[in-house]
Amino acid sequence: MKFLLKNGYAVDYADDFEGKTDILIEDGIIAAKGENLSAEGAEVIDCEGLTVLPGLCDMHVHLRDPGQTYKEDVITGCAAAAAGGVTAVVCMPNTVPAADTPEVIEYILDKAKSASAKVYPVGCITKGLKGEELCDYNALKAAGCVAVSDDGRPVEAAAMMESGMKGADAAGLAVISHCEDLKVINGGIINDGEVSRQLGVKGMSRLSEDTVTARELAISRVCGVPIHIAHVSTEGSADLIRAAKSVGIKCTCETGPHYFTLTDEKLLSRDADYRMNPPLRTEADRQAIINALVDGTIDCIITDHAPHSAEDKADFEKAPNGVVGLETSLAATLTELYHKNVLTLKDIVKLMCVNPRKILGIPGGSLRVGEPADIAIADINEQWTVDPVKLHSKSHNSCFKGMTFKGKVKYTFLDGKSVYKD
Ligand code: DOR
Ligand code: ZN
Repeated sequence: MKFLLKNGYAVDYADDFEGKTDILIEDGIIAAKGENLSAEGAEVIDCEGLTVLPGLCDMHVHLRDPGQTYKEDVITGCAAAAAGGVTAVVCMPNTVPAADTPEVIEYILDKAKSASAKVYPVGCITKGLKGEELCDYNALKAAGCVAVSDDGRPVEAAAMMESGMKGADAAGLAVISHCEDLKVINGGIINDGEVSRQLGVKGMSRLSEDTVTARELAISRVCGVPIHIAHVSTEGSADLIRAAKSVGIKCTCETGPHYFTLTDEKLLSRDADYRMNPPLRTEADRQAIINALVDGTIDCIITDHAPHSAEDKADFEKAPNGVVGLETSLAATLTELYHKNVLTLKDIVKLMCVNPRKILGIPGGSLRVGEPADIAIADINEQWTVDPVKLHSKSHNSCFKGMTFKGKVKYTFLDGKSVYKD
């Protein structure tokens, strides 16, 4: 199948190109780029007024497969990805069983063969996410992992994390750290502050996130191995990472759209769909996260797509943490950061397409001729209201429900095939 993307506005950070162009897709790759390309034998997609981006890479997704497929599975998670313009999904290992052996990785990759996004699994740092015994990183790498993480949980002992980081680096795997001190959290369920006091529920102190972020940076510094800090939500962590980068510590980090769009005021509704870990913080943190995106301290925008069923989320205090996000991440980012003149489209492509792939060694992220035709096409001005029931994910726990965004994905292509059309 041949497609001609006619008259779109292409934004390509990697190729340092931004402007109106036709793009010809043939045999799964970007075959030509330029003005007035011939449409012979091609299906023409009228992209006048639309923005053409490299397919997004979301480096923090929970696909729940194997083991919790009532929440999500590889196929539905990738359908949600396609609907969000995401063509590369990096999936976290807190499945059941945990992704700590080549067998689980092979199962995920096998299922992903028929999915509408490319899947890049993350293996565990420690067996069963228990923090007791390191996984076989060479085996995980050989099976197809791009990184290791115990995401969902911290690696509690610094010595264990140090061994994990050294071992993973030697095997050529990135390490993604979920920074949390469980003793500080001590059963807390939302940000510790005015709102938690008002609701009379236990808070999650920033100290939990900030102390473990500082620890990971210290390990990275002492051992000279890289660390990627997951889901940065506090001003303190952003400041620590900025300072670490300034002295040459090999660190990178990510945040999610909820942290730069919402605050813990949302929790006043006592709705568990606004609960995730780390939690929504305060306006000062939200602003600090935006500043850290602007000055390059934060490298990537991810979703931490964490599907949970309505039953799981029913009880505000007992519900598991997590929100879905694959289908709203570009829209939320365009609304909050592009339309408010905080970031340019090229900045957003860097944060959502280029940097995640660079950190993990995943190919793609450019609209250059010869690249795989993994492409997202959006109407950056179309307004729409998030209706969780319409999401492609099996779960509907969106913290953006009812919000109106400006920016909608219209088409997604994966290896030159149409995998989503609005
Ligand atoms: O909110 C979260 N949900 N944070 C995590 O770290 C884990 C995730 C999940 O797996 O549900
Ligand atoms: Zn996490």
